[in-house]
Amino acid sequence: MKLCPVADIPEGEIRQAALPDGQPIALYNVDGRIYATADRCTHGEVSLSEEGCLMGKIVECSWHFGTFDVTTGAATGMPCEVALKTYPVELIEGVVHVVV
Ligand code: FES
Repeated sequence: MKLCPVADIPEGEIRQAALPDGQPIALYNVDGRIYATADRCTHGEVSLSEEGCLMGKIVECSWHFGTFDVTTGAATGMPCEVALKTYPVELIEGVVHVVV
């Protein structure tokens, strides 16, 4: 599924996009590679693309400072214990696509 130009996601930043069912996902640029996860923190009702802070491949939720590895979805810091759903990303002619 086609989402946005890769140029819309600067290195080290997070952008929100929507799946066909309206569900938000978060797109991350980690050292020039794009990763996609569910946008909602698994600990609370927080949008990681709006409230999260990306440091390398780790996103920190600003509510309780839980963390996730955006390359795998794994929860890496308390109080987050449940992994984020991840989506495979493909770049086709400079456009980000996710496989859903
Ligand atoms: S809501 Fe994200 S760490 Fe609590």
